[in-house]
Amino acid sequence: MFKQISKNQDTTILKDTGILQDSSIFLIVDRGNFAATKYTAMKILHLISSPQGEASFSVKLGNAIVNELQSAHPDHTLTTHDLTTTPFPHLEEAHLTSFYTPEEKRTPELAEAAKNSDEAIAELMSADALVIDTPMYNFGIPSTLKTWIDHICRAGKTFSYGEKGPEGLVKNKKVYLAISSGGVYSEGFMKPYDFTEPYLRTVLGFLGMTDVKTFRVEGVKVPSLQDTALSKAIEAIEL
Ligand SMILES: Cc1cc2nc3c(=O)[nH]c(=O)nc-3n(C[C@H](O)[C@H](O)[C@H](O)COP(=O)(O)O)c2cc1C
Repeated sequence: MFKQISKNQDTTILKDTGILQDSSIFLIVDRGNFAATKYTAMKILHLISSPQGEASFSVKLGNAIVNELQSAHPDHTLTTHDLTTTPFPHLEEAHLTSFYTPEEKRTPELAEAAKNSDEAIAELMSADALVIDTPMYNFGIPSTLKTWIDHICRAGKTFSYGEKGPEGLVKNKKVYLAISSGGVYSEGFMKPYDFTEPYLRTVLGFLGMTDVKTFRVEGVKVPSLQDTALSKAIEAIEL
């Protein structure tokens, strides 16, 4: 029994109300042509790191990327974390000790200290696509996003050191960066001051996430650019 789940001018997507647990059968009717496809639901993880809520440019851009992903993957799941309202704690001694203590040897306190990190890593590992919204703050990322990164970078869990050097263990993810900045950093004389995109690419790449696309709302504080910065950024989205 097929149920219509999406329709536009040319394409209708019908979903088998189905039997399979992790994937679904889709029937795509495109301009009169039929195609059946087995499709695994995409898990999208959306991270917000601007405290500006609805007014945030990085969030508006990130939402537009999420919307595109949702349209392209009708059978998706979406998890959104606002890292400013539910922040990860700065790393303290208990966190570090817990990271280096095997699970079975952790005291209840150390188990508690490892909880945030373990949960964040499990969530990251199970995601297919990450959308990371970040403002540029003082040429880098906000500390709320940095603490999330500090909790997901763990030797033996998300990276390892072998004979050939470091190896990222977080594989097969698509990552979309939604970066907002007052000035322009993708080109021109401010480019060397950008420690948002190069840093994120470096640390995510170190963990194995190399399929990274960057979209920028830039120049939001430049009078001649600010009115069109967001629409230009949204138009440039290509999954
Ligand atoms: C604390 C702070 C630091 C900022 N640092 C920079 C900066 O280094 N370079 C820049 O171009 N814009 C900077 N800005 C401007 C923001 O990047 C810009 O307003 C951006 O749109 C904020 O992201 P949001 O709209 O998603 O909150 C800064 C803004 C704040 C509040």
